[in-house]
Amino acid sequence: MENYAENRQDHPGQDSEEQREDRRHFVKSALAVGLGAACAAVPVYGGARMALYPLQQTGLSGKEYQLTTLANLDETPRLYSVTDTVADAWVSSPNQPIGNVYIRKTAEGEVQAFQAVCPHAGCRIKVDKQKDAESGDEVTLFFCPCHGDVFSLDGERVSPETSKSARSMDSLETRVDEEGRVFVKFQNFRLGCAEKSPV
Ligand code: FES
Repeated sequence: MENYAENRQDHPGQDSEEQREDRRHFVKSALAVGLGAACAAVPVYGGARMALYPLQQTGLSGKEYQLTTLANLDETPRLYSVTDTVADAWVSSPNQPIGNVYIRKTAEGEVQAFQAVCPHAGCRIKVDKQKDAESGDEVTLFFCPCHGDVFSLDGERVSPETSKSARSMDSLETRVDEEGRVFVKFQNFRLGCAEKSPV
């Protein structure tokens, strides 16, 4: 390009065949770079879209799902997977997992449901047996394997003063119909804050 500019100053208004060839080569190269960038942009856009995919599934959070029956429940929490049809502008995919819920029935017969996602940073909470510090008895508790938070079966933080999570487990609304079917209103909540804020 530098030579081309110098030559034009030497012979203004007159391009040699060599100069015209240089110009044709330059235009071809510019077109090739432009087309290459456009092709590269497609997978980049696709990748970003895939990364954001779960966030784009609006309309699922807050929906009610029938997950079990009263007869299947006792005091020990059971984990249930929530599935639904996930759709975008092009594809509709049935039976896609959208979350997990713990459900239990208290000794008094109350049905409780909790988000399985830890409110601290989003790890999957587990049900675990631990020794009670005072009695030495084995007790069943919720336990987060990521940073060690422990929650009672009512979802409350066992040690709020040292807990990493700023709030207890996120409880979910439940409903039992006349046939004993248990419905849960599935909801995601903002992580890492003291308020239980739906997202
Ligand atoms: S993600 Fe559960 S304690 Fe940190």
